[in-house]
Amino acid sequence: MKKNLLLVMLALVLVLASCAGDSGTDDTSDPGTGTETWLPDTAAPDTEDTSETHDTVETSGRIELEGISFTESEISLRAGQAFVPEIVFDPGDTPYRELVWTSSDENVARYSAREGIVAVGEGECDITAASVSREDITASVHVTVVRREENMVERISLDKYEVNLTVGLTDMPWVTMYPENASDKREIWVSDNTSVAAVNSYGLITGVSEGTCTVTVRSAGNESVYAEVTVNVSAPKVFTEVTYVDGILIANKTYGLPSDYNPGIDPDAQSALDSMISGAASEGISLWVVSGFRSYGTQQTLYNNYVARDGQGAADRYSARPGHSEHQTGLAFDLNSLEQYFGETAEGKWLAAHCWEYGFIIRYPQGKEGITGYMYEPWHVRYLGTEVAERVYNSGLTLEEYLGITSVY
Ligand code: DAL
Ligand code: ZN
Repeated sequence: MKKNLLLVMLALVLVLASCAGDSGTDDTSDPGTGTETWLPDTAAPDTEDTSETHDTVETSGRIELEGISFTESEISLRAGQAFVPEIVFDPGDTPYRELVWTSSDENVARYSAREGIVAVGEGECDITAASVSREDITASVHVTVVRREENMVERISLDKYEVNLTVGLTDMPWVTMYPENASDKREIWVSDNTSVAAVNSYGLITGVSEGTCTVTVRSAGNESVYAEVTVNVSAPKVFTEVTYVDGILIANKTYGLPSDYNPGIDPDAQSALDSMISGAASEGISLWVVSGFRSYGTQQTLYNNYVARDGQGAADRYSARPGHSEHQTGLAFDLNSLEQYFGETAEGKWLAAHCWEYGFIIRYPQGKEGITGYMYEPWHVRYLGTEVAERVYNSGLTLEEYLGITSVY
């Protein structure tokens, strides 16, 4: 009996001891019991075997990581530059996203959690990311570091960081790149939403539609240096009052005329037209008037008919809304034919080449719909007087561009 009791007690002690051992093993492998969170930061230089110090994490029941890759396999940086690499996880929704970063040569490039891959000095190295949960899953990017260029742009300053525009209007922030003696001051301009605001290579920003977006100017010589402009675009303002800009009466999409503005044909425009018709005739060119002055009411009937036939969107490209037609000024004429092929005829070519001599301009030139608001109308001339017409003709600009005004509803 006594011997049996001893054996039972010995067995019990052994069982208890083995349970204690098991529970100790579980504690170190359970991901849910506060294992360390690894923060990749090589600000303090990593030891060579950093990646080997991390335990493999239990993965059962979760979306296992199968692979990682860099979107770029090679990058080139200047010493001092930083680059935030993009890592693709496979599958994309895996929760195992912690990585440990190592560099094959910290004197060339290192990884910092805050800045990404930081180029230290000239040379080549590999930056490797390894999964913390599966150390066999790694990806590398080959980094070439070239010498820091002398006199690189270090800072960009703007005269304004916010631009407020109405649709169709433009503004251009003034850029200063530092240091003053930087060797490459070329600018790269980008809008993050071109349907709100467009920007050209000189930084001219144009409001396209209501909204807010960001326009960025970057140093072409040192792309890590940039400045941002917030662009707020508001709905276009449309006026309905008789508007003169630099002494020139304007009727376009932005500037409308009151419904009772009813001057009839301007006598100076009429006599200039008569001279032009005679001048053309003496050169064997026959010009005649198809449409001259149109009242607000006449334009209303015309426009409504076009809208009924083609829809408002289409009609707005070739017919002015009542109050917005230049024909209501008494200073515009449509000649010969309301077909675009008129521009290719001898009469159309003569008109384009000579109308300025009589004080007229072709008001809606080809390819300028975005500026004038209307499709090409080789038949529509606007009287400005010989002095202004010659200047506008020689400028090669539309009247809107020449005066710096918009034409948008
Ligand atoms: N066709 C021109 C734009 C007008 O309607 O006045
Ligand atoms: Zn016309």
